[in-house]
Amino acid sequence: MDILFERKSVRKYTGEDVKQEDLNYILRSAMSAPTARNTRCYSFIVVKSKETHRKIAEAHKTAQMILQAPLAILVVGDQNIAYGGYLSQDCAAATQNILLAATAKGYGSVWCGIYSNEERSKAVEKLFNLPENIKAFSIVVIGKSAGDPPPKNGWQPEKIKYEAWK
Ligand SMILES: Cc1cc2nc3c(=O)[nH]c(=O)nc-3n(C[C@H](O)[C@H](O)[C@H](O)COP(=O)(O)O)c2cc1C
Repeated sequence: MDILFERKSVRKYTGEDVKQEDLNYILRSAMSAPTARNTRCYSFIVVKSKETHRKIAEAHKTAQMILQAPLAILVVGDQNIAYGGYLSQDCAAATQNILLAATAKGYGSVWCGIYSNEERSKAVEKLFNLPENIKAFSIVVIGKSAGDPPPKNGWQPEKIKYEAWK
């Protein structure tokens, strides 16, 4: 489980391909995430097309690293299937599993947020021709790292409280 501490956002890529067997492992990990009432409301659109990467970069200003990467996964959720208001939490768990699985397989990755940003959501949903009930949640960019800062040290004991806030 040390990959938890190795994961970091990678924003520089070599362009080297992600192997299909590794991609399958990453997608299987995504589908192993928990979902409220086990609805499995998520789907995943794998995007390798450079043309589509350029269009994503136009629609999503903080996803410019996609231009160097071989692959991205658009995580979407089906509002008709999700239980109550849990679509975003289900898709977040799947997104995090993608990051961790990519790390485990030796790839860099970064979570680019879409959900709850109206402008980005509209642009991405239009670009991918998503039906009304399918909501864009995140784009995860994946590839071999071309050199990024080391992982941050997340340990902050002051964030921990026991039993109650005070
Ligand atoms: C909901 C969410 C949205 C994010 N959106 C972006 C984004 O659009 N572009 C980007 O470069 N990083 C994005 N990130 C990555 C964060 O900037 C990054 O996780 C944070 O700075 C901590 O760095 P680390 O991932 O290396 O630990 C996002 C992360 C989350 C959880």
